[in-house]
Amino acid sequence: MNTLFAVAFIAACFPDFAHHFVLSSESAVFSDHGAKFPRSETRQVEYKIVNTWNSIPVLHAPVTITFKPGVQGLVMEVNSLFFDDPPAPPGEPGKPFDGLWDYEVVESFFLNSATRNYLEVEVCPHGQHLVLLLSAGDCIEKGLPLTFKADINGGIWNGTAIIPWDYFPPGVDKMNSYAIHGSGIGRMYEALYPIPQEEIKEGQGPNFHLLEYFKDFSLKDIMGEDWNQPPSDLWS
Ligand SMILES: *[C@@H]1O[C@H](CO)[C@@H](O)[C@H](O)[C@H]1NC(C)=O
Repeated sequence: MNTLFAVAFIAACFPDFAHHFVLSSESAVFSDHGAKFPRSETRQVEYKIVNTWNSIPVLHAPVTITFKPGVQGLVMEVNSLFFDDPPAPPGEPGKPFDGLWDYEVVESFFLNSATRNYLEVEVCPHGQHLVLLLSAGDCIEKGLPLTFKADINGGIWNGTAIIPWDYFPPGVDKMNSYAIHGSGIGRMYEALYPIPQEEIKEGQGPNFHLLEYFKDFSLKDIMGEDWNQPPSDLWS
């Protein structure tokens, strides 16, 4: 009963909360998803992860991911509670760490839904990262370098990554993001675009590579209509 009440309460507090845009120019008028904005305008896009992988509202302040325009690449900023569980991975901050998904981590996936090529970027409050290139679920590159730094301040952490343009598969049109923390039966798998409860099969567990649940995403929404995704040697 108590749990049900809490879930309903949280859902009521976070109506239609998954994402919103913030224009980078102060003179510009606030623009909702899909609304027109000047072609050369860049803006940041903020997403809040308010559900678990199976569409149960999370019971803590949501993890926030903000994408901002950059020159070398897309800027990804994470703001989150610091759960400090599990402990830090045994790897150097600023370096790739294989298996980072078993630790406290925030992840964004960028997909071309036609080719099913996608980029996975994982970042950890302790400073480690893991970048993977995948095609229809098969890993083709793992552990690419990433400019990433994270700061832990008491019960919260924030981090900034610059994702080089050539990591993105050509024609990115979908995205999903995730956050994982906790250990054992307390491990929480949270998703920006979760699987609807009615579609979850008996015995199904979290799987972040179900590309059909990704939703529309355009780098031009961030970089401006006139911007074109630079060609990528990594993907050619
Ligand atoms: C974390 O946030 C603080 C305050 O906004 C900022 O000064 C700092 O640069 C951020 N750290 C990272 C690694 O992004």
